[in-house]
Amino acid sequence: MNTARKIKSDLWYIGASDRRLALFENMMPIPHGVSYNSYLLMDDKTVLMDTVDNAVAPQFLENLTAVLAGRSLDYLVIHHVEPDHLASLQEVMLRYPQAVILCSMQASRLIRQFFEMPESCQIQAVKEGETLETGHHTLTFYAAPMVHWPEVLVSYDTVDKILFSADAFGTFGALSGNLYADEVNFDREWLDDARRYYTNIVGKYGVQVQNLLKKAATLDIQMICPLHGPIWREDLGYFIQKYDLWSRYEPEDKEGIVLIYGSMYGHTESAAHVLAGILADKGVRNIKMYDVSATHVSYLLSETFRCGRIVLLAPTYNNGLYPPMENYLLDVQAHFVQDRTFAIVENGSWSPIAAKAMQEIIQNMKPNNIEGPVVTLKSAMKQEQLQELERLAENLLN
Ligand code: FEO
Repeated sequence: MNTARKIKSDLWYIGASDRRLALFENMMPIPHGVSYNSYLLMDDKTVLMDTVDNAVAPQFLENLTAVLAGRSLDYLVIHHVEPDHLASLQEVMLRYPQAVILCSMQASRLIRQFFEMPESCQIQAVKEGETLETGHHTLTFYAAPMVHWPEVLVSYDTVDKILFSADAFGTFGALSGNLYADEVNFDREWLDDARRYYTNIVGKYGVQVQNLLKKAATLDIQMICPLHGPIWREDLGYFIQKYDLWSRYEPEDKEGIVLIYGSMYGHTESAAHVLAGILADKGVRNIKMYDVSATHVSYLLSETFRCGRIVLLAPTYNNGLYPPMENYLLDVQAHFVQDRTFAIVENGSWSPIAAKAMQEIIQNMKPNNIEGPVVTLKSAMKQEQLQELERLAENLLN
């Protein structure tokens, strides 16, 4: 059954949601699913904006056929080549071989890397500022390199004042009938997924996101149509401000504290609970604790973007750092997280070295602060070490 939805007088949502996929990019858990958005402009010319992942291709194709209602497809705009949006390209081109593909120059090369495209296929590269006149609408193209791949374009409909934003302003989470962010409690039910999507997918490219935000600031945008998640037509500033914070690596909660601990037999975990209690007694609210072994690193990275202060507690392992903690810290480093304050508690039964390993990774990152002194546990925390944890907490709070 056709599930297409009318968004504007001649614009349709023809994407679909997937609640079966366990891991996005075969890495990141998506317990709330994901939507693959595609839009169809039914003007004098018909323009399809992106395709969808293979998983939802049958629904998307049914929607496309139904909305076209016998008309041909004139253009296919490929904003982003990643297969979660490009996978159905060949199927679309088999059905509408006359459609002209519009994309960036780099995308035109990438498309041919992914697919054997027939010689007859018309692929036309467009540059920043070029336009497509469709009858009553004009689409203007803007380059958005590294948001999230180098070939990305966004486009702006100058009549309806819509930004087709590719991966930008997207989020994990399947749609449930409500197409618009103002129809859901985004802050309560979607923001964590949106932050985890942004930080893990685009978080490394803060400079490039800032560049896109600067271009967007020159446009009168009344609607944002991303490739994942709900459409924005109200309170756009709320989400744009989140993107601005995230891409400048500024924490949403400067005073917030997250404890991330690794623990093989519970001793380091116990110290983490003691420290959390000390912090709570000192008035810290909304403390978050995560077991690094039990929490997917995508959540930990997202929390590191959200909060200003992070306490790391980890055992020594194989004369180095406990591997799940090392994996987390290297992920933080890879995403250029900066201007966070870290505090460190290590454990080691004979030659503790975890703190040194953690310090080395943090020092290799963009500027971050390590609040000392390090607290060293020998196998298990002892009563006399309470003072050390007290001092660590005081230093962190001052
Ligand atoms: Fe949703 Fe970078 O693809």
